[in-house]
Amino acid sequence: MKDDSDWIPDAVDLEWVEANSVPPTAAVLAIEAAAGPLGVPIVDRHSGRVLAVLAGDRRRIVEVGTAYGHSTLWMALGQPADGTIVTIDPDHERTDLARGWWREAGIAEDRITVVTAKALEAFAGQEPALAGPFDMAFIDALKPEYEAYLDALIGGGRLAPGALVVADNVLWSGRVSGSRPAEPDDASTNALRRFSERVLGDERFTATILPVGDGLLIATWHG
Ligand SMILES: C[S@@+](CC[C@H](N)C(=O)[O-])C[C@H]1O[C@@H](n2cnc3c(N)ncnc32)[C@H](O)[C@@H]1O
Repeated sequence: MKDDSDWIPDAVDLEWVEANSVPPTAAVLAIEAAAGPLGVPIVDRHSGRVLAVLAGDRRRIVEVGTAYGHSTLWMALGQPADGTIVTIDPDHERTDLARGWWREAGIAEDRITVVTAKALEAFAGQEPALAGPFDMAFIDALKPEYEAYLDALIGGGRLAPGALVVADNVLWSGRVSGSRPAEPDDASTNALRRFSERVLGDERFTATILPVGDGLLIATWHG
């Protein structure tokens, strides 16, 4: 092990990674440009690149929380050419725009199915597109519902053996670990902490958290 354990990567390191990476496709840039001024929360560029790598051998992906389809697009670009994604978001104005950007990126229409609903209602309602089994699940919607999304994935038999579960925002700008202060009764912080502690401590998963973006939990399902 290297003997400089007090060193942690900073913005310069991330800029170096970005400067040496294949430039993002025009549709990714268009989504970033549209989301920023409106404050639509999307994964950052580095997290997008991680999602693309993780999606590399995953044919069937389910995503909870589409917004402008930025994370969807990164995963679609990383997937095999016959890979499919089912993505859930009740906000059709956002997902209608997302479809345009996916088209611009050359993603075949039949690869991405949008379920316009609240995720827990869609899972409970036996929506056929959500039957699974999925090889990867990406969770990025309401923070207090993360555990319930996981329950719907596990309890509903929607995770294939070896499936990868990924969740965004699990460090929540330091509030989950306490490296930055949080209000004691902050529902999102408390829910995200419970969610991560549960997955990290569940022997049916091999799991860790990548300190990328706002924290990406990655977990392989062995249940
Ligand atoms: C953080 S954004 C998703 C960002 C997207 N994953 C990306 O990085 O490009 C969260 C999205 O969850 C959606 N959302 C809100 N309530 C939801 C629910 N009950 N079920 C599913 N999605 C929900 C919001 O409309 C919003 O677009």
